[in-house]
Amino acid sequence: MGLSQPHLLGIEPLSVDDINHILEVADNYANQLDKGNFQSDILKGKIILTLFFENSTRTRTSFEIAARRLGAEVVHWDVSTSSLAKGENFNDTIKNLSAMQPDAIIVRHSEFGAPHTIATMVDCPVINAGDSWNEHPTQALLDALTIKRRLGKLEGLNIAICGDIAHSRVAGSNMRSLTKLGANVRIVAPPALMPEKFPVEGIEKFDNLEEGIKDCDVIMMLRNQMERMQSGLISSEAEFFENYGLTKDKMRNAKDNVIIMHPGPMNRGVEIADDVADNKDHSVILEQVKNGIPTRMAVLDILIGGK
Ligand code: NCD
Repeated sequence: MGLSQPHLLGIEPLSVDDINHILEVADNYANQLDKGNFQSDILKGKIILTLFFENSTRTRTSFEIAARRLGAEVVHWDVSTSSLAKGENFNDTIKNLSAMQPDAIIVRHSEFGAPHTIATMVDCPVINAGDSWNEHPTQALLDALTIKRRLGKLEGLNIAICGDIAHSRVAGSNMRSLTKLGANVRIVAPPALMPEKFPVEGIEKFDNLEEGIKDCDVIMMLRNQMERMQSGLISSEAEFFENYGLTKDKMRNAKDNVIIMHPGPMNRGVEIADDVADNKDHSVILEQVKNGIPTRMAVLDILIGGK
């Protein structure tokens, strides 16, 4: 069936059918992985190149495990030991890597739109693993899968995305996907971290955390993106935690079965308290990481394997 496009550059260009197709294939893979020892050779002989210009713990490893579960091989390109460090320009680097004919390229970059530029220069599918504060589509897809597998649906749910919205590509992709899937999306942020404009219509804004998460089915916390933040936007981490850090106490007006999400890496005691992050009844943070594998298997299978 495939997608309406050859690349996964963001949630923005995807149709609702595209998203549902990825989630359906991912859900299937999640069930198969749950049975244990899953190994397929559907992508045998394919070579996937990862280009990470920014740090990553979860995303790069998750893509690699997903690719290997489907029988593909992964080649990691390392920016610090590359010829970019010798002065080669970005376009020449990409053209040279493309000349080696990888079957897909996975890219993370600090520049807005870098994966889109690469997609115009190469002959294989390009997957965006995070570009600046723009999009991180596989994170939003694994988040949607996690909500669906936990709560059975997305349509009609009240979902609050909280914290440093202005600098978060996770928020950017989630606002797009969750509204496309019919959820009621709220944004909770201090005025200094609230963007002037959202990428989609119909989002409710709050600057008070307790009000913003009232009656919510899902609370998604975000890391303060200090690497993209001008200094002075937050007066202190202690004050941020006091007002915007999620604690058990502040959760009392959310729904009883509310789930707590965080894309990681977490700053405990800044945006989230330990007893929330590790809460067995509510936190699905490690389930998100687990669901990253079947989600990325689905994306690779659809874009390279032709499912
Ligand atoms: C996020 C990222 O890099 O965009 N992490 C991730 O991929 N799970 C979020 C972050 O860095 O805060």
